[in-house]
Amino acid sequence: MTQPLKILISAGPTQEPIDPVRYISNHSSGKMGVALAKAAIKMGHKVVMVCGPLQITPPKKATVHQVITALDMRQKIKKEASSADVIIMAAAVADYRINQPARQKLKKTKNTLTLKLIKNPDILAELGQIKKKNQILVGFAAETKNILGYAREKLIKKKCDWIVANNVARKDIGFGADDNEVYLISQHGYLPIHKCSKDSLAKKILQQILLSLKNPEKIA
Ligand code: PMT
Repeated sequence: MTQPLKILISAGPTQEPIDPVRYISNHSSGKMGVALAKAAIKMGHKVVMVCGPLQITPPKKATVHQVITALDMRQKIKKEASSADVIIMAAAVADYRINQPARQKLKKTKNTLTLKLIKNPDILAELGQIKKKNQILVGFAAETKNILGYAREKLIKKKCDWIVANNVARKDIGFGADDNEVYLISQHGYLPIHKCSKDSLAKKILQQILLSLKNPEKIA
């Protein structure tokens, strides 16, 4: 290995409160982000994680910031981002939050309840705007159809160097599963990585990304 890098990784879901006892969220367990952190540590790098509520323990050797909401995650990531060599957004950040969470538990007095949601900031897109020279920005794309097409749109729109695209409609990969199957996409092409454990996938993703530090156009 050459010089250790600072690798910033987000993992897990965010939870957006409705009232003090309820929230909206998604099925992310944090396994993909944790696998990336473990692989990066094994390669000798310094890992900082910003994690939503995980169903899995992050590696002891990582510096871990625990957060709940997308706004918390954004704040912590922005603090760490400027000194990071590589940023990997594996977290499933909620796209919307409740406009004004209730201070007290909502009572079920009516037959219907309408929640007003407002858009959360897109952390990855914001990182793309402030990306430093020589910094590698990696996003994920959780898609249920047109995987390559939608992921390529995200690569360009969010100004990423790489997008890791996965099909979250499948039960055997993606959310909560131990395995995953992805396309690793850059502006120079793409690499399909066939179904394997998230641990071995993480190693393959990192190897390819770190290779691109030296040779941006090479897709192994
Ligand atoms: O955690 P696991 O159970 O192991 O599952 C892994 C996973 C399915 C969560 C992971 O592989 C994955 O796909 N993570 C990204 C999920 C997601 O939010 O995808 P998206 O296509 O909605 O978002 C695209 C990118 O923008 C992501 O890098 C996301 O972190 C980022 N984003 C999204 C919304 C937002 N407000 N801010 C963001 O930064």
